[in-house]
Amino acid sequence: MVDFLVLDQDGYPFSYLEQLDFTVAKLVPGTEGNSSAWQSYINREEVPGEGPWPGTETVIQATTESSSEGALVSNGDGSYHYTFGLDLNAVSAPLVVEYEPELTHRVGLQVGGSFRGESLPAANAVYTFQPSTGLTPEQDIDHRKIVSQESCSSCHGNDLALHGGGRVDVDYCVTCHNPGSVDAQSGHSLDFREMIHKIHMGERLPSVQSGEDYILWGFRNSPSDFSDVVHPQDPRNCLTCHDPDDEATPQALQIVEKPSMEACGSCHDDIDFVAGVGHPATNNSECT
Ligand code: HEC
Ligand code: HEC
Ligand code: HEC
Ligand code: HEC
Repeated sequence: MVDFLVLDQDGYPFSYLEQLDFTVAKLVPGTEGNSSAWQSYINREEVPGEGPWPGTETVIQATTESSSEGALVSNGDGSYHYTFGLDLNAVSAPLVVEYEPELTHRVGLQVGGSFRGESLPAANAVYTFQPSTGLTPEQDIDHRKIVSQESCSSCHGNDLALHGGGRVDVDYCVTCHNPGSVDAQSGHSLDFREMIHKIHMGERLPSVQSGEDYILWGFRNSPSDFSDVVHPQDPRNCLTCHDPDDEATPQALQIVEKPSMEACGSCHDDIDFVAGVGHPATNNSECT
């Protein structure tokens, strides 16, 4: 169950929300050299279908629960009470996700729908906590904050509006862009640490320089081609996105403490670790 309060742009309670989407994920600690990773409890299968794309395998993607699948109650004073339709104790399809209340969890939401004929403005919220105790990251539970909204906004302004405009907050993005989430049409990982690195390398990606495209096939299988993205600075300015001195990113040092084939191989995509091309590694515990 989620209790939340909604205020309008002038700070007054707003009681007329009828459509929201929710996510919920647990933070799985890293073992054997792997870093920690969010795992969504809500997943779907994507079938690649027929089209001008290379992917042929059915994959798993994290997704939302629409408020119409659970029970949303507006209390009339700007406060709401939502009960998930999903039973966290019984998540078995399309992926078994065991409920582990002692791990850090995050619940996310996005506002949807309209009011008096006008679409409501984009708004996301997240709450991060340990279900077994109720503790929050300020009280020293495991956490993973290696990028901040402020650093993304330093270039994107307030325009980081993806998926039709309703998704704007990086802390919300990561509840879905988990390591296990894949785009079926391209076969590329949607893991944020791979996808965001690759998008910003853009035309500098070794694969792109050797003639391939970096395309993800999104909503209704429309292609987003990031092969011509020009990052306005040297991508080796890692601190632009990961600053260990920034209070908003207390785990930013993980970029040196938790190197991995996925994170480093995202920009360096001419390296085939398993085959030993460019640099050999068989698992992430060898990296440090
Ligand atoms: C130094 C500037 C810079 C920073 C910092 C930055 N970006 Fe970008 N980003 C760009 C540029 C340039 C593009 C390509 C041009 C475009 O399409 O807006 C881009 C494109 C994207 C795209 C592709 C979709 C789109 O809107 O074009 C996503 C998603 C994205 N960035 C997410 C992020 C996230 C998340 C962060 C923070 C972790 C971030 N960016 C930080 C410069 C930046
Ligand atoms: C509810 C889950 C969810 C959330 C939250 C989410 N995404 Fe996604 N995202 C996906 C899935 C699933 C795909 C793949 C879509 C497909 O294959 O049809 C995707 C695809 C994308 C793509 C590539 C395709 C396209 O549509 O351009 C970008 C870029 C992207 N997401 C950025 C973001 C950013 C930035 C955020 C946060 C502001 C975010 N996403 C939040 C699930 C999510
Ligand atoms: C445009 C923003 C951006 C830039 C620039 C950037 N990163 Fe990242 N990086 C990300 C995002 C987004 C994630 C995933 C965040 C998450 O999972 O919460 C990430 C994750 C990582 C991780 C994974 C850490 C872990 O604990 O799993 C490593 C390692 C990493 N980055 C290394 C680097 C290095 C090295 C550089 C510079 C060469 C760099 N990054 C530059 C956005 C960026
Ligand atoms: C955001 C993209 C990005 C990420 C993430 C990234 N790198 Fe790089 N790295 C670069 C760029 C750009 C260069 C400059 C040389 C080039 O273009 O290949 C570079 C250069 C290097 C070099 C020097 C290569 C040479 O031939 O001079 C090494 C070694 C290296 N990176 C290791 C790593 C490791 C280890 C990680 C993971 C912790 C990592 N990189 C993550 C973008 C990235």
